Amino acid sequence: MLVLDGKIASAAVKASLLQKTQAIKAAGKRTPHLAAILVGNNGASETYVASKVKNCEETGFGSSLIRFDDHVTEAELLAKISELNVDPTIDGILVQLPLPKHIDDEKIIEAIHPDKDVDGFHPMNIGRMVQGFDTFTPATPYGVLLMLEHFNIQTKGKHVVVIGRSNIVGRPMSILLSGERPQGNAYVTICHRHTPIEETKKMAQQADILIVAVGIPEFITGDMIKPGAVIIDVGITRVEDATAKKGFRIKGDVNYEQAIAKASAVTPVPGGVGLMTIAGLLMNTMKAYEGKFYHN
Ligand code: GUN
Repeated sequence: MLVLDGKIASAAVKASLLQKTQAIKAAGKRTPHLAAILVGNNGASETYVASKVKNCEETGFGSSLIRFDDHVTEAELLAKISELNVDPTIDGILVQLPLPKHIDDEKIIEAIHPDKDVDGFHPMNIGRMVQGFDTFTPATPYGVLLMLEHFNIQTKGKHVVVIGRSNIVGRPMSILLSGERPQGNAYVTICHRHTPIEETKKMAQQADILIVAVGIPEFITGDMIKPGAVIIDVGITRVEDATAKKGFRIKGDVNYEQAIAKASAVTPVPGGVGLMTIAGLLMNTMKAYEGKFYHN
């Protein structure tokens, strides 16, 4: 059984990015810079954004954390994004989700200039991704591809079952893995909340590679896993636990103990896909800096 350790795979990605930033610095140039917008004080979002900023530092990137309180108006957020869009010292912009209910996520995502959309959520970048054009790949699915690449897990001709159809994980993941690319050429089944649970179980049992992004702790149990399967657990849920130092524990969507007894490879939570999301984000920020795929 192989532990798909996100620390190891993300360290490899970060080391190659650090080499690039060191060369950029040695040439006397400005290094890549990420601007992260955080609204409110959702504990999980705070942790994610802090980790993104810290990883920028470790990779030699600059970063700006821009905070707004819960009562920020949509107009204020849009004004900040417009400012960052035209700021030549900012390469990548991300707005941490979820946003408060009075803010329209779609409007905010569409306001980010596609050249700076390092989360890969803008419809233009999603459209490019669907057609197999060079683009910013959404950070979490990108992280999973980097993980599969690092551990040399073959996907061609394999049955991948993706559980969850969100815009930020399940749907792009299914499109990427079925596409023509090194970590692609799989045949893909998507299950979601409207798939009868018995069908989801049956599909999971047939998966060579099972990718779970539903946000339900330990949704996948050992009986749902095909012997020798590769299990990618995207879930990160805080579960209250009075015995834990912080009052909660992080749980994935997969029962890890049961998974490791049956699978050939499993991502741990924490320490798996979460770290790879950041690696994907950093790769996209470098890509934005290099201005490689648009015509500037
Ligand atoms: N919230 C959960 N995942 C993500 C992500 O990848 N990017 C952003 N911006 N927000 C998120």
